[in-house]
Amino acid sequence: MPSRRNLIASLAAGVGLAATLRPGRTLAQTAGTSEGQKMWGGRFSEKPGAIMQEINVSIDVDRRFWKQDLRASRAHAAMLAKQKIITGEDAARIDAGLATIEGEITAGTFPFRREFEDIHLNVEARLGELIGPSAGRLHTARSRNDQVATDFRLWVRDALDEMQAKVRDLQLALVHRADQHTATLMPGFTHMQPAQPVTLGHHLMAYVEMFGRDVSRMADARRRMNECPLGSAALAGTSFPIDRTMTAQALGFDRPTANSLDGVADRDFALEALAAATLCSGHLSRLAEEMVIWTNPQFGFITFSDSYSTGSSIMPQKRNPDAAELVRAKAGPISGDFIALNTVMKGLPLAYDKDMQEDKPPVFNAFDNLDLAVRAMTGMVLDFKANPARMAAVAASGFATATDLADWLVQTLNIPFREAHHIAGAAVKLAESKGLDLPELSLKQLKSLHPGITADVYRVLTAEASAASRTSYGGTAPAQVHQQIARWKGLLKAG
Ligand code: ARG
Repeated sequence: MPSRRNLIASLAAGVGLAATLRPGRTLAQTAGTSEGQKMWGGRFSEKPGAIMQEINVSIDVDRRFWKQDLRASRAHAAMLAKQKIITGEDAARIDAGLATIEGEITAGTFPFRREFEDIHLNVEARLGELIGPSAGRLHTARSRNDQVATDFRLWVRDALDEMQAKVRDLQLALVHRADQHTATLMPGFTHMQPAQPVTLGHHLMAYVEMFGRDVSRMADARRRMNECPLGSAALAGTSFPIDRTMTAQALGFDRPTANSLDGVADRDFALEALAAATLCSGHLSRLAEEMVIWTNPQFGFITFSDSYSTGSSIMPQKRNPDAAELVRAKAGPISGDFIALNTVMKGLPLAYDKDMQEDKPPVFNAFDNLDLAVRAMTGMVLDFKANPARMAAVAASGFATATDLADWLVQTLNIPFREAHHIAGAAVKLAESKGLDLPELSLKQLKSLHPGITADVYRVLTAEASAASRTSYGGTAPAQVHQQIARWKGLLKAG
């Protein structure tokens, strides 16, 4: 009776699939060894097939949280000893071995081996080589299922902490630039059409609010995820008298997770982090898009220094905002990563499923991309040079003070707003037909639209007066913007 592997091999050869199923050079490199199955060797007599191993291996990805893995293992070993589940000598040997491994990984001498599948088995195998049989006691009352859930939570928690600090830096940069531009007029747009004059300071502060909510979403996610799954074991908990509160505390968690199935089965903590990252990337993308528009010479609102511009290999005049364009683009892959993990998780039966090994690449990719995007944006915010004269000229054009005319009619002549809107519309029509802007209409021309109009109206028709008049809470008037800048300076200083 031929073995199943041989059967498949000859079958494959017969139907021309040999190239696919025959281990090639790459596959051969990952071919199973008897080493690789030591961890569960009892029930197995054959080593895993090459393709099986190729699809199963995750060490190239999960080695990234080796620090978290060692930290969790050391906490687990200390707890096992305190609970007298293992001896103090074994725990001391394990701890010293894990410290040696930490040194090896830091020094780049640790032998990461694909035949040991993932970071957990690599560490355990190496520990065995370093300290002998005591190594085999580390995995008491633990499974890779709660181990990976713990390691990954620790990694995501660190990533959220670091990201909050970086987004805070971006906010600081924005507040700093806003402070310089509370009186810098610029056109405000709706539908990307000239709407009403605003100030650059006000505009930048809008993003400070958005990024503030991003930080608070990350903080929320962190708070919710800060429970320790270690001790959930494979899925059902364990019969050993473990102390889950002790390991939770040692790892900086608020408490242990309350349901062992949930502890090993859910990845909502990673999804929440990805959701927060996705929203943040969307905000970055909008600001980046505005920078792309503003640097276009036909706008000419801002310029980037050489450090944030690129040239063209063919068009000598070019000054391209590549960094802004790439920040604009990052929202694509980052939100894709959220969708990727959410789609992996949907429909999975409890508890752990191997599908969940696919949880790491999207999270690592998203946070790498977001990290770069946030840092690039902070750099661009600090780098750009505004062109206030150009911005003010554009702010005053396009009949941007038509609303101010209507408001003046309401406030001075007590005309109902709908009627005032109509009169101001007629003024725009008249100005447009004469090739003039609103403040260039003569008093006689304005009186033809409503006899009550007086020269006082010109006071409100400039962009500067328009912006200064918008003193409602949160409005664009410099006094309001100063107030918000002061508030944010206080919040950011307080952390
Ligand atoms: N490498 C695995 C992962 O990342 C670790 C958990 C494996 N658990 C198991 N029962 N095979 O998900």
